[in-house]
Amino acid sequence: MSDESICLVRGSINIDEFYDLPTIVRPGQTISAFNFSKRLGGKGANQARAAARAGARVLLDAAVGQGVEGESVKKELCGPVKGVEDIGVPFDAGDEPEGGILGERIRVWDDGSTGKAIIQRAEDGENSIIILAGANASLPSKPYTPLIPQNTTHLLLANEIPLDETLAYLRAAASQQNVTTIYNPSPMPTSSELAAFPWNCVGWLIVNEGELGDIAKAVFSSSKEVKLDGEGEVNGAVRYLTNGKDKEDGKKTIEAASIVAKALHTALPRLSSFDDDDSETSTAAVVNIICTLGASGVLHVRRSSFTASQGKDEVNAKCLPAAKLLRPIRDTTGAGDCFMGYLAAGLMRLQRKDGAGCAEGEEEKFEGVLKRCLTACSICVENEGAQDSYPTMAQVETRLA
Ligand code: ADP
Ligand code: NA
Repeated sequence: MSDESICLVRGSINIDEFYDLPTIVRPGQTISAFNFSKRLGGKGANQARAAARAGARVLLDAAVGQGVEGESVKKELCGPVKGVEDIGVPFDAGDEPEGGILGERIRVWDDGSTGKAIIQRAEDGENSIIILAGANASLPSKPYTPLIPQNTTHLLLANEIPLDETLAYLRAAASQQNVTTIYNPSPMPTSSELAAFPWNCVGWLIVNEGELGDIAKAVFSSSKEVKLDGEGEVNGAVRYLTNGKDKEDGKKTIEAASIVAKALHTALPRLSSFDDDDSETSTAAVVNIICTLGASGVLHVRRSSFTASQGKDEVNAKCLPAAKLLRPIRDTTGAGDCFMGYLAAGLMRLQRKDGAGCAEGEEEKFEGVLKRCLTACSICVENEGAQDSYPTMAQVETRLA
């Protein structure tokens, strides 16, 4: 593992356009906005930005639309990795992150617009959003298979691109050794898509509690092969997470999410639609799960190389509380993406320091990575915007000091 290591992000780029209005426009009505602002967003661009601010070298594999607009988006994304000064943590210009976003995989799609979100924000707090997938729905000309560059160690994926693309990248990464895949299934695929998903190609599944419940519901109800330990308890926990009730009860949510994450961690690798080699080796796949729980922090279920090296296969769910907010919550947009980018950069750093497979003190080191993710997220939610509120690693360290 060298410093040439790359985090590949295959994902979306959006321009978010905000119109501040007295009320949301009704059919047939024309009203004037009293303010307009524009920000770069999209899950792919957000995750790439977060990973770069966290110090990773990122290759963003995405598409922008035709014309000046697309070009300027590309330029903005691939400029120097500047930190943001006014997010409540001092920023020292000497502490520019070492990473950056490489733009050679950002295609220009000549047939239409860059992806857009048009957001109406009314004075009473209501909003309404129009999404235009635009270039995000486009594919490179055929025939083509995803190319994962040699020095890619981590691949980040989410779903604002065609599902077939996500699947193709997951499979390509799985057939290439030493690429860790990190997948955030948002927006959620349908239950039949989830049931047929190549789960054994996913190294890290990052979900919130609702997504965790949705996946479990789809997967457990479709598969006859899976024998669940404590089936009644698992089903009860899935119902709790998917009914959306009582979410205020943090303790209950953590309990339910732990039960479901453990069951999925055990079941997912066996429920695989991807058989690269039809031998038993595919059953050795591990799907590590991290469930973000908003104000309650995160829980993780993973197989550590420590337990694995000892031949133990115990499954534990561990919780880490959210980092303390030092200011009121302002805007949680893109907090999940901030987490993803920081996680990728953190896992890369661990690998770089330790080489693969070093088990000593592994749990503490991994929790150190999570702590930085959570601290970055709390700075993110304290500030307006998504990318504009992502701290650099130096800012995270300052906050932790
Ligand atoms: P998503 O946006 O994908 O639903 P979450 O809401 O769980 O993801 O947010 C991701 C992370 O952002 C959380 O793990 C937490 O660290 C932070 N976060 C989000 N909402 C809050 C909150 N209300 N208070 C403190 N931290 C929060
Ligand atoms: Na924010």
